[in-house]
Amino acid sequence: MLIDHWPLLGLRLNTPRLELRLPSGEELAELADLAAVGVHEPDRMPFSVPWTDLPPTERARSVVQHHWLRLGNWAPDDWALNLAVFEQGRIVGLQTIAARNYAAVREVSTGSWLGLRHQGRGIGTEMRAAVLHLAFAGLDAAEATSGAFIDNPSSFRVSTKLGYEPDGVERLVVRDRVTVLRRLRISRARWEAHRNTEVSISNLTPLPAAARAAGQDTGSVRHSGPFAAAARG
Ligand SMILES: CC(C)(COP(=O)(O)OP(=O)(O)OC[C@H]1O[C@@H](n2cnc3c(N)ncnc32)[C@H](O)[C@@H]1OP(=O)(O)O)[C@@H](O)C(=O)NCCC(=O)NCCS
Repeated sequence: MLIDHWPLLGLRLNTPRLELRLPSGEELAELADLAAVGVHEPDRMPFSVPWTDLPPTERARSVVQHHWLRLGNWAPDDWALNLAVFEQGRIVGLQTIAARNYAAVREVSTGSWLGLRHQGRGIGTEMRAAVLHLAFAGLDAAEATSGAFIDNPSSFRVSTKLGYEPDGVERLVVRDRVTVLRRLRISRARWEAHRNTEVSISNLTPLPAAARAAGQDTGSVRHSGPFAAAARG
């Protein structure tokens, strides 16, 4: 079965309202349809790669291709998990968690979007809380980062609500204009102090965090878990 070769297909994150998991082919098509309908007002651009400027059909295809790309070029030292977000079985958006050199650095970054009609109801906060739980509770992360352009108060607010702190700025060129990105960062201690969303993780192979708590030596493969297994699969 496919899941034997790619165990991450079994991973589930559940919050009171949401389920986050890899989508099936047809669900990926639904996610693409959602992007085609709209992710934000056209007068602003919340992404450093302005993929939402594409016409709807190409924008939808780019969602599909980007999903396959990140599965196809998965590597233990450079991975991105694009989790579809479901509310009552209906796909509402995408939550990404990614890392480079995770086994050594133990830091993840996140990115996300919701279909326009699903925004402003707390889903963005709940899905970010889900992947923070995966990072800190599931993968024993030390820190997580995010970022939002200065004209994106909702993304910034999601981060600060969850306990992120300012981490400087970056000046980027987007749509041929210099734009300021406010970087944000959350430590394990801040996550523990602010967490207030119930999150459960299913089908993540027991990870070194648990082994260490039990006083076992985790060796040099620590924090790779099923992420490394998937890369080999
Ligand atoms: C960013 C995004 C994922 C957030 O998801 P969401 O479900 O809309 O966010 P939530 O409802 O959980 O929280 C939004 C918060 O921002 C606040 N907010 C919204 N607009 C605001 C404004 N103009 N000024 C200040 N705060 C604002 C909301 O009041 C809410 O905070 P509260 O819970 O304290 O009231 C979603 O809006 C989205 O997909 N936007 C377009 C794509 C995008 O920007 N992606 C992120 C790129 S960094």
